[in-house]
Order: sequence, then structure tokens, then C-alpha cells
Amino acid sequence: MSKRSSTLLLFGATGDLSKRMLLPSLYGLAADGLLPDDIQVVATARSALSDAEFRDLAMESLRKHLPADFFSEETALRFAKRVRYIPVDVTTPEGFDQLAEAIDIEKGVSIFLSTAPSLFKATIENLERVGLAGPDVHMALEKPIGTDLATSAEINDAVAAAFPEDRIFRIDHYLGKETVQNLLAMRFANSLLEPVWNAAHIDHVQITVAETVGLEGRASYYDGAGAVRDMLQNHMLQLLALVAMEPPADYAPTAVREEKVKVLRSLRPMAADSVKDEVVLGQYDAYEGELGEKSDTETFVALKAHVDNWRWAGVPFYLRHGKKLARRKTEIYIQFKCVPHSIFGKGATTEPNELIISIQPEENIRLKMMAKTPGLDRGGIRLREVPLDVTMEGAFADYRRRIAYERLLLDLIEGDQTLFVRRDEVEAQWEWIDGLRAAWKAAGMTPDRYDSDSWGPDKSNEFAMRDGREWND
Ligand code: BG6
Repeated sequence: MSKRSSTLLLFGATGDLSKRMLLPSLYGLAADGLLPDDIQVVATARSALSDAEFRDLAMESLRKHLPADFFSEETALRFAKRVRYIPVDVTTPEGFDQLAEAIDIEKGVSIFLSTAPSLFKATIENLERVGLAGPDVHMALEKPIGTDLATSAEINDAVAAAFPEDRIFRIDHYLGKETVQNLLAMRFANSLLEPVWNAAHIDHVQITVAETVGLEGRASYYDGAGAVRDMLQNHMLQLLALVAMEPPADYAPTAVREEKVKVLRSLRPMAADSVKDEVVLGQYDAYEGELGEKSDTETFVALKAHVDNWRWAGVPFYLRHGKKLARRKTEIYIQFKCVPHSIFGKGATTEPNELIISIQPEENIRLKMMAKTPGLDRGGIRLREVPLDVTMEGAFADYRRRIAYERLLLDLIEGDQTLFVRRDEVEAQWEWIDGLRAAWKAAGMTPDRYDSDSWGPDKSNEFAMRDGREWND
């Protein structure tokens, strides 16, 4: 682990991510005493704002985006006063000299790029020129890292020209979510699950990331990206990797990422002749109206993926994500196999056990077990599914629910890469996604319309049912 930084330098500080997530996260850390006073925060963006004007913007964002019962005007003001603002147009060298003067590089710097990736190269070249790329600098990058393997390699090469991999922090904010990390705790801190966590006992896995939001003013980015590149390529494949990975030797950057990348490399490439049976694309009914033009961009994807290794041979992973769906929910659903033989009579159907790990908005883990329905059973035993529930909020009621970026910003400052994505992971993700997109293009697929507030196109249910399975809606 490299040394702790004494400066956090935010590029794109007036942008949406900064206002909604980064500034509120820093407030959260400061409020909890986790952002020591000797760490200075330097914000930069193109707008010519003074320190005071940026602080006003920060205060407004904090008021708007923090829960009312957590926001305190006094703490916010104290935090805002710690932030300096230096205007920088990253395409020109000027502002960088001022940055270099403001920052004591020897004491370590964490840089967070939340600008458009097209600006990464120029930013990095300028940072290097003014000496802000030395051995004490951690470099964090927000997605999207490219739009395919080739463009992601270009970005990664540009960053690698100035920073070695052990100082590059690629963000996937899902890894900062408490419940996502809990997936690892659940798998590897309990001896109960691991022996049955394989093809011998698991029938299939479902990963759903359903959102109720639509374009949300991001049309220019989203229409060029679509659901597959916006969510599947990164967050969903990371979730899949965490579900499917082998136990790492320890909870440390190399071991964890080594195991994840093996899974990502084991994903079976999508074939053009089966893509129509294994993939469903959709677009919500109001999308083109909101966009103001015709578009073939998918806002929904459901597909069947296969992890071709010993542990998972023959176990399908159904992945589903969409915008404007019926309900917001992110969950991992594991269906175990049926009992090999039922000792009970015909009236007693045994359902397979199900493990549901709800990531958001609820945070809980539920195991569905079969139990006997109370009664004297003159006609034979009757069975019913009952859940064993662990509600995280109930079990850990005293803990504040944190924004994923709080953890990631702190890890970045402290130089811990465990929850950041390594280059080979991003590239394995892109390789699979490029294959998927090429296959659907070769098959001439375009998205089917679906009603807003539904669970996506009917085809997505049909395709699960064809395998005798159902989505856990
Ligand atoms: C972002 C995507 O990475 O994740 C958005 O660009 C998406 O389109 C968001 O809405 C979802 O994040 P969360 O944390 O709200 O599930």
C-alpha cells in the first residue's frame, strides 16, 4: 500500500458526480472525523469561480443531496471552508502551474478524474509536466473507461504513460457499496455456503439491476452508451465476478482482483448464431420522445451468460438491467437444486431453496427454506416455503448508511486498491461486451419497445421460461 495522501485533487468538481456524490461523501467523512484536518481538498473545473463561489456551490449541493437528518449547516460550512477552488482548463497548460504551487507533492496527492474521458490524456500530460505525477500520486479514474476494448486500451495506455498500475485506481462505485462487500463476507466468512456454492448444488443465478429512472438529462452520454455499456460492462460484471470467484487467499488487492479476473476471462463469448436466444434488448416506450430523435440504443438488456470453468459448468447466470422498470431493485438471486428425492406424498411439493441477496434499496439476505405447514396432516404432510431473513438495517441499526464513494475516496487517499478495478479486469469485461455487441449486430438485433414501469419486453420472460425458469420479480 502506498503512502497516505495529504491532498485530494478533484477534477470535474462542478460536475454532476461531484455535486451528487463526491462532495456529499467528503462531507460524510469529515462529519465522522475520518477526513483529518491535515488533508486539503482542492477542487478544479473549467468555470472561473472564486473559492467563495465554489463553496456556495458545494453548500447548495450538500443541502440538496444529503439526508436532512444528517446535514448540519455548521458542519457543512466547516467542511466547505477546507475546500479550495482553482479553475483549470485541462486542455491548456496554464492552470496546472497554479495547481502545482498549491500542492505539496512530497506529502502525497490523490487525484480524482471525473471529467469526460476524452480529457484524461491532456490532463495527465499536463499533470506530468508540472510534476504532479510522481511516486506519491494516486490516480483515480471514473467510468466510462472507453466504449470498447480498443478505446479503453487507449485510455489505459495514456494513464500508464505517467502512472504505474499500482497507483491507478479505477472506480466502479458498486464495489464501494456496503452490501456488495458483504457478499464477500457472506461467502468467505461462513463455512456453510462455500461447499454448496457450485454447479453440483446451484441450479442458476440471477443478477438484476432494475432502475425506475430514465434518461435524467444525460441523453448525450447515454444514447451513445446504452444499457450494456453503461451498466452491464462494469457494475453487473463485477457483481457476477464476486458471486462466481474462487476464495482469494486474503482480502488484499492482488488476491481479490486475481480471482475476479479469472472469472471474467471464463465468460463464454456470445455466439452470433445463438445470440437471439440468449439476449433480449429493449427500449422504454418514452425514450425516443425524451431524446427527441429516433434511436436504436437499448435501455434494457436481459441475457444468459455462462462461466466456463469447473465450479460453474452448466449453471446459467441470467443478467437483467433496465431503466424505467417497475421497481428499483438490485439483487442477486441464487436458486439451488431441488432435493434429489422427496419423501413426502404428492400433496407436498418441495420448492428449491433460494438465496436472495438484496443490495438496494433494501439491504437484506433472505434464504427460502421448506417447512411443514402446521396441522395434523391427515391427508399427508403439507410443505410451505418460509424465509430466513437477515435485514441489515435491523442487524446493524446503529450504523449510518454510507454513500459508496465515502469508502472509495478514503481507500484512494490511503492507497488501498482492493476495491478498485485492475486494467486486466476492465479489458476482460470489454472483450466479452465487444463480442456480445458484435454478435447482436451480426444477427441484426434491435431493441423491442417496452412499457415504462414494466419489467421490460415480454421476450425477457419468455426466454427465461424457455429454460423452465422465472425471473424473481
Ligand atoms: C451509473 C450509471 O454508473 O450507475 C447510471 O451510469 C446508473 O446510469 C447508476 O443510474 C446506478 O447507480 P446506483 O448506485 O444508483 O445503483
